[in-house]
Amino acid sequence: MQAPVPHTLPLTRREARERARVHDAAPARAGEAVPARADEAMRARADEVPARVGDVPRARPDEALPARAREALRAPRDKTQPTRRDQAALTRRASSLGGPGVPLAQHARRRRRRWPSVPVAAALVAVFVLGSSASVTAAVTRLTPEAPPPAVAAPEPSESPVPLSAFIEPATADPAPPPLAPVPATDLPVVEQQVAGQDLCADPAVTSALAAQDEAAVIAAVGGIDPFRQTVVTGTAPCLRLDDPNLSWVVVNKIRPFAPIDWAPGSVVFPEGVRNLGEGALAPEAAAALTAMVSAAAAAGVGEIGLQSAYRSYTTQQTSYSVQVADRGVEGADLVSARPGHSEHQSGLAADVVPCADGSCGTLDDLAATPQGAWVAEHAWEFGWIVRYQEGRTDVTGYAPEPWHLRYVGPEIAAAMREGGYTTLEEFFALPAAPTYAPAG
Ligand code: DAL
Ligand code: ZN
Repeated sequence: MQAPVPHTLPLTRREARERARVHDAAPARAGEAVPARADEAMRARADEVPARVGDVPRARPDEALPARAREALRAPRDKTQPTRRDQAALTRRASSLGGPGVPLAQHARRRRRRWPSVPVAAALVAVFVLGSSASVTAAVTRLTPEAPPPAVAAPEPSESPVPLSAFIEPATADPAPPPLAPVPATDLPVVEQQVAGQDLCADPAVTSALAAQDEAAVIAAVGGIDPFRQTVVTGTAPCLRLDDPNLSWVVVNKIRPFAPIDWAPGSVVFPEGVRNLGEGALAPEAAAALTAMVSAAAAAGVGEIGLQSAYRSYTTQQTSYSVQVADRGVEGADLVSARPGHSEHQSGLAADVVPCADGSCGTLDDLAATPQGAWVAEHAWEFGWIVRYQEGRTDVTGYAPEPWHLRYVGPEIAAAMREGGYTTLEEFFALPAAPTYAPAG
């Protein structure tokens, strides 16, 4: 039994990284950095390799995807539409683009209020003349058919953007042209989103936070978790990518492999104060968050939580997956083990945890029925972790439930998923479900 460590709040990514840097050259001890490539020597244990015969979790038949989830994967959920809070934040960002003139959205609204019969086109043309803002130009350009597709798969917009031509009066305009139909108020947030998204990737607060891999700072710079998610979902800010494994919001699944396929984190560390059954190491911020979570569970009286498996390299996953294929065949293996290059464990952001008591630990399969398992399901989010493969979500994740497989996504995203009732990263970010691998070739 290891001595409980004081309950600490999860470190920010920057803090954790700096702590790791300090220890980079030190021997590999709990909480200290070890080179990720040294994982072969660490023999990180695969979660899908049973601790003893019979411990292998049985693949349960897929459960029907709830209608709510089906709808979310087909079309934007209500939550992907700007809430009033989102709109306010996006409007604030859009307003910052107006330079000396009146901000675009505000200006458009004022024009409509004063002269409801005057086309909104005139308002936007006026903005062109008054503002001459590159960002505004870029925003409108985004509405043209030549605009590049968003970096992240985005749901279909609820209304088609209005083409630029609709806003331009002909040079030989009739003195009394028939008024254009008023633009519905619901179109304005679309323009604001485009403006805000374009601007975000040029905002030094965002670019410097991204360069520092400080996710909390990026989210704050974007205006908070709701605008962040909205921006990612709509794909309006190409710099906010979900495929960078250096960032804790990376989404890895059967159709989103690592690139390169054998990508490895710069460093991983052994979490302090955590019984380590497989010499598992984690990305520094995830290690700090696991330490905090395990400490809090002990303080809450639910018992000890041990770490069975954490970072696994591409080659380690090759071995793990092969063992499962030999045992279950390809179809069975694909339900419990990721193919190499597709496992979250390769990011250093996944931890498989087990219950421990009286100096020994149970298996992965034991966790769900223990107080530790119940506590983890209820409280892991408070430390930036999510239970990644939940009951009834095989149609989305492609895996049988794994109550022990925790994924570090950071406190902001974990809390937002909890609050919004999201049980998969795919749904939170409105990504396609990934029940199977993409066809080869
Ligand atoms: N067992 C999970 C799916 C993995 O292999 O990453
Ligand atoms: Zn796992």
